[in-house]
Amino acid sequence: MTFLTTLKVAAPAGYATPFLAVAVPQQGLPSSLTALDAATGGALGRLYAAGDFLGKKDEVVLLHPPGSAQRLLLVGVGKAEDSDRNQLRRAAAAAAKRAGTAGAPSLALYLTPEARGSLAPRDAGQVLAEGLHFGQWSYRELKRPPEDPKPDLETAAILVDGDLAEYQAGAALGDAIGGGQSLARSLQVLPGNTCTPRYLAAQAVALAERHGLRCTVLDLAAIRKEQMGGLLAVAQGSAEEPRFIVLEHAGAGGKPVVLVGKGVTFDTGGISIKPADKMEDMKYDMSGAAAVLGTFEMLGRCKPAVRVVGLVPTVENMPSGTAVKPGDVITSHFGKTIEIINTDAEGRLILCDALSYARRFEPACVLDAATLTGAVVVALGNFVSGIMGTDDGLLEEVRRAGDRSGERVWPLPLWDEYRDLIKSDIADVKNSGGRPAGSIAAGWFLREFVEGYPWVHLDIAGTAYSDREDVTRPKGPTGVCMRLFSEFVLGRSR
Ligand code: BES
Ligand code: MN
Ligand code: ZN
Repeated sequence: MTFLTTLKVAAPAGYATPFLAVAVPQQGLPSSLTALDAATGGALGRLYAAGDFLGKKDEVVLLHPPGSAQRLLLVGVGKAEDSDRNQLRRAAAAAAKRAGTAGAPSLALYLTPEARGSLAPRDAGQVLAEGLHFGQWSYRELKRPPEDPKPDLETAAILVDGDLAEYQAGAALGDAIGGGQSLARSLQVLPGNTCTPRYLAAQAVALAERHGLRCTVLDLAAIRKEQMGGLLAVAQGSAEEPRFIVLEHAGAGGKPVVLVGKGVTFDTGGISIKPADKMEDMKYDMSGAAAVLGTFEMLGRCKPAVRVVGLVPTVENMPSGTAVKPGDVITSHFGKTIEIINTDAEGRLILCDALSYARRFEPACVLDAATLTGAVVVALGNFVSGIMGTDDGLLEEVRRAGDRSGERVWPLPLWDEYRDLIKSDIADVKNSGGRPAGSIAAGWFLREFVEGYPWVHLDIAGTAYSDREDVTRPKGPTGVCMRLFSEFVLGRSR
């Protein structure tokens, strides 16, 4: 796993670096680069004059200026008046990704004042740091090293004119969030034969020890004792034992924010088995869990004054002679009976036990993140996660955290009419309502187990991983929801 280990903020004058990236708006050569243009023998002026670079969003060009050993990368952020947290984060990610492929061990990113637009220095420092981590992340662990391996990008500097303390404060936060997100992605990317429920639990324990947080792991016996019937039903088809992870950051005490993450380490569908095409992507079915663990990595580093509890039910969904079958009826932790129509609707079976277990913490609110339904991908695609919940104020708070983090969300209606989708003929509820409004039916199912606290559910099936590379990231895990969770929690600590 590659991690950015050193991140600093400095003034640009005289800063020596083998790889200089410069964030610029779409407006011709900015006056802040006059000296750099002169130092590169007019290379920048010629580039702009030829119309080979405009500074559009996500546009990058790599130069080897005459007389200089260093590489010079220009990254566009689009029109200065549109420059925002999201675009600057993307620019930093694009810079780090390009530096990584070039094999540069360190990178300096100069934020021109023109590209910053009206963003506050603290905000800019935060999102640039986040972006540098995001663009730097890659996973090469399972490939044999080539004879002449490229060094990992390990050091990055953010270069700014003035206000260094403000940028530094923002960058420290962005560094912690970025580190948490890299942890989330590094868990997501692991194959199912490595990242089992026991492995996830061991990672949670290690994380807690690293940062002095509380962590309790319920093993099979403890899960039985708790009567987590949903988690046990999914687990019974697999040779791997389930685990139920409880993490706690004490913060300032009081009622906690509870974060729940779906931790299905591989989802075959069970007896209602999935088609073979793209089934390998179901190693990502623990992405909600990764977001929760990544958030605790951030909490451990920043120690904000807010109490947070993390709950991760983790299990493998397999078909076997002992697997749960369509038509089986089970009793959940909450006490409600569930008719299992489709064993592939397993996420809601483990989440409902976590939502029920959450009641004992008297939560201020509960947020859950889950790669829950293929239907959310049909409804919203890959740029936005679906949200549903019981409280308009909380939904709005989550939406704002989504905007700030660049991990946007969009609401689906959890209206009463949809409740009928999960009515069972013989049990309290059934776990599948078939094809119509699949994401909302899943939301309604979860809602049946929410009692005594405001709640928002995030369906991240379309956003947790990507089968397309872009300028900021390779194919694969996105770490989605970790940054959103972080913004939400930090918002409550202020
Ligand atoms: N893990 C899947 C959802 C999923 C699909 C995640 C595609 C990422 C990409 C979930 O457990 C599932 O299988 N859901 C079913 C529910 C259905 C049987 C009611 C689905 O969406 O088809
Ligand atoms: Mn499934
Ligand atoms: Zn699943």
